[in-house]
Amino acid sequence: MKQLTVQVARVERCSPLWVGRRLLEQLPTLVEPTRYSSIVVVADDGAKSAVSRILSALKLPESRSLLLPGGERMKDTAGLEALWRFFVEQKLDRRSLVVTAGGGALSDLAGFAAATYMRGIPFVHVPTTLLAQVDASIGGKTGINFMGVKNLLGSIMQPVGIVVDVDTLSTLPAREIRSGFAEILKHGLIADAAYFERVSSRDCSEWSADELAEIIFRSCEIKKAVVEADETEQGLRKTLNFGHSIGHAAESYALNHGISLTHGEAVAVGMAGESFLSWRSGLISEQCFLRARDGIARAGLPVSLPTAMPPAALRSLMTRDKKNVGSELRLALLEAVGRSVFDRTVSEPLLSEALELIQPGAGRHA
Ligand SMILES: NC(=O)c1ccc[n+]([C@@H]2O[C@H](COP(=O)([O-])OP(=O)(O)OC[C@H]3O[C@@H](n4cnc5c(N)ncnc54)[C@H](O)[C@@H]3O)[C@@H](O)[C@H]2O)c1
Ligand SMILES: [Zn+2]
Repeated sequence: MKQLTVQVARVERCSPLWVGRRLLEQLPTLVEPTRYSSIVVVADDGAKSAVSRILSALKLPESRSLLLPGGERMKDTAGLEALWRFFVEQKLDRRSLVVTAGGGALSDLAGFAAATYMRGIPFVHVPTTLLAQVDASIGGKTGINFMGVKNLLGSIMQPVGIVVDVDTLSTLPAREIRSGFAEILKHGLIADAAYFERVSSRDCSEWSADELAEIIFRSCEIKKAVVEADETEQGLRKTLNFGHSIGHAAESYALNHGISLTHGEAVAVGMAGESFLSWRSGLISEQCFLRARDGIARAGLPVSLPTAMPPAALRSLMTRDKKNVGSELRLALLEAVGRSVFDRTVSEPLLSEALELIQPGAGRHA
């Protein structure tokens, strides 16, 4: 087991983060249950087996847990109300602890429910998807979707601990592992060239559980460092949005048109497009662009869309992004493999070229 501490500006908000195998059995030592007046577990139904392990480790009856349907659809006001009601029924007070177990949608929702119940009660994240382990559970962003806009309502509150038990991934479908791997590749591209070379050296399905644990730990270190430097996303934290400007547009388009595309797949394609923009804006060489794009493909992630998406439609979806200021697009781009910049603007013709480049069957060069 390896440990990190996510130490944001205010000391009382630092979160220990543990990465390893069979950690759920060690929860009594990690979360010190005696510090709390009561403990509940809220989880998504994909994390069922983790919930049994958590309940038995903390010696809690099943009635202290609530299972919600997994995924994005419960991340709304109805899901939030279900959790608040459960907290009231369970008589949680300000010294109670909420353990969240599941993917990023569940940790965002349950974190927000805990952050707003009695003005905020402590919670521990037990992320059970690769994406939640390397990304969503770290940094304290919580929230729900509202009126069709992703993450419109939310808060930043740090968990009192993050327990990353790699064995929980054993039930995760291969496509979800691949999806989470996009964020791992992103961490290499924005912050650590040697790490990018390693994680892009083979298909992401070929890593053993122990190797994956090492990789997850390094990704957690990178995300932690960025969050500590800029908890509220005034600057450096924006580099974590690399690949997400185009990626979110593709994800929204897919959602509106019944096209199957995971967040990670969209981000992988977005990173290919935004690496191209980095090259053509003069920030990196063509060789660097190809190194990034070929690496993403070697890891088994897509660098072009599964179905054509009109560039004009993608362009208009990009305007809605929270990262923009007014109508001007602001992007995180690469200035080397392993180094990134933020708040960059690009010309409209160049953006159109990038959105053409990621269409299915487009050539290796625009
Ligand atoms: N807070 C942040 O900083 C942050 C960062 C990135 C993403 N997010 C959010 O995270 C969400 C995406 O997270 P995700 O990719 O984990 O998807 P997800 O939460 O939708 O989970 C995907 C599916 O996997 C299932 N599942 C969970 N654990 C499982 C397991 N061990 N075995 C089998 N199935 C399992 C879930 O039930 C769900 O059906 C989005 O809502 C996104 O906005 C938040
Ligand atoms: Zn992402």
